[in-house]
Amino acid sequence: SSVLVLNGPNLNLLGTREPSIYGTTTLEDIRMRLTERALSAGHQLDWLQSNAEHELVERVHQARAQNVDFILLNAAAFTHTSVALRDALKGVDIPFIELHLSNVHAREPFRHHSYFSDIARGVIAGFGADSYVLALDAALSQLGRD
Ligand code: DQA
Repeated sequence: SSVLVLNGPNLNLLGTREPSIYGTTTLEDIRMRLTERALSAGHQLDWLQSNAEHELVERVHQARAQNVDFILLNAAAFTHTSVALRDALKGVDIPFIELHLSNVHAREPFRHHSYFSDIARGVIAGFGADSYVLALDAALSQLGRD
């Protein structure tokens, strides 16, 4: 199967960005860890980080044409703002897991609402870089079930 991981704005700064909240692991470290795990389970992993909402929306559209089976989404700040990205995910009807490094529910009130949670298969938040690994494992187990 083919899994696409989408990363929203400022996640390119991981490693140096507010390390007390987001840890010291870089996004490239996470990408390598996930790619290896997906490959060894016999799956393909595609990856995008973008600071631009339209690029994420367009990547979701492409995902349907490319027969992506599952999406892992850390929409970062767009989690709390983006009707456009929500509509794109609804539009392509590809199952997805919403994930966050931090526990957004333990943070500022504006992070408690997500435009994705109610249409996601599930949500994983609060485990740092491990949130990505947990999300991948959950996606692979969901794919085995679909
Ligand atoms: C985040 C949480 C968001 O509230 C924040 O805007 C981010 C990262 C996380 O992974 O914890 O940029 O999605």
